[in-house]
Amino acid sequence: MAFGKSIRNLWRLEPDCIFLNHGSFGACPIAVLEKQQQWRSQLERQPVRFMGQELPVLLRAAAADLAEFVGATGQDLVFVENATAGVNAVVRSLQFSPGDQIVVTNHTYGAVRKTLEFIGDRVGIRPIEAVVPFPIERPEQVIEAIAGVISSSTKLLVVDHITSATALILPVIELVKLAREHKIPTLIDGAHAPGMIDLDLQAIGADWYVGNCHKWLCAPKGCGFLWTNPNSPFPQLTDQIHPTVISHGYGSGYVAEFDWVGTRDPSAWLAVSEAIKFQRSLDQMTSQAKSIKQRNHNLVIWAVDYLNQAWQQSPNAPTEMLGSMATIALPTMPISAVELNDRLWQEYQIEVPVMPFADRLWLRISAQAYNQESEYKLLAQAIQTIAASFGAA
Ligand SMILES: Cc1ncc(COP(=O)(O)O)c(C=O)c1O
Repeated sequence: MAFGKSIRNLWRLEPDCIFLNHGSFGACPIAVLEKQQQWRSQLERQPVRFMGQELPVLLRAAAADLAEFVGATGQDLVFVENATAGVNAVVRSLQFSPGDQIVVTNHTYGAVRKTLEFIGDRVGIRPIEAVVPFPIERPEQVIEAIAGVISSSTKLLVVDHITSATALILPVIELVKLAREHKIPTLIDGAHAPGMIDLDLQAIGADWYVGNCHKWLCAPKGCGFLWTNPNSPFPQLTDQIHPTVISHGYGSGYVAEFDWVGTRDPSAWLAVSEAIKFQRSLDQMTSQAKSIKQRNHNLVIWAVDYLNQAWQQSPNAPTEMLGSMATIALPTMPISAVELNDRLWQEYQIEVPVMPFADRLWLRISAQAYNQESEYKLLAQAIQTIAASFGAA
């Protein structure tokens, strides 16, 4: 077995814990952290030359590498610190008026929703929520839910590519098509997508796509990107996107504006090429699975089945809507999400998020290369023991 515990030493994770939460903040491999440190050292040898002459070239080379990985072109892709920053850059650059609608779903990530509330508060509008059912049976239910709320007042559709609490891959190609038919621009929040699923941003065709590389691509923290579609049918909108922090590049175009947002540590962005290399090395270690993404997906599907059987729960989503995370219903027990999280960590050294969603508690599991089946079996037992401590099944 090439994965699981046998390669855990490629990461700095505490050796004795069961880490089933790659989804929250990723975990950066040692090789990638060392490359990041090399970039920091190179910067500090001659900071003026590095920032002034080397960095602009290096950043564009890193953007080109990442663009190739996500099916895009380097000149359309800029680095931001994280998905939240990318979403902020887009929505804070757009103009909204009273009566306009911004459509989201009930699965939209909390920080993104807050950003939209902030934008809305300036002009007196609230995000309109499409209610996507969970459990869900078919991806078409997402399209139906969104089609049901868009109107002639809708000025922007904001959807997750992979939802946070419910871990669902949404049918983004079809959603972009739907929005286009109604002349609505689309911003996709792909915080979890790079490194978890194959990406072809040009084929998805959204007007903007933001992603995190510090989650499933295992880049250092602070490595996010924004892609703006060069073929968007809304050039009057895509041309007006600026970083949230305005600096020297203002007025010199998209790339110049985002590539310099004031003095900061660019090492996480520069190390993205090493993260891509690391993921490709994991791909090469897979035998039956075609890629590490497929291997992780297979593990999560196995774990979903195992945990559902152990806890006598039903599947919540079709396999095609799952990547390397899944959200599973917990047996009913009188405990809060925070308390259950604490007990899992304190009593079993299991790190796994307990998610409150739609008035009940769920567990979101992740499967990364360092995970293996036995860890989910221990999770199953731990939950059964905790449930039994309340007299539940
Ligand atoms: C769907 C989604 N969007 C956005 C974010 C925010 O990511 P970040 O904190 O890196 O900006 C997350 C984080 O988990 C997420 O799950």
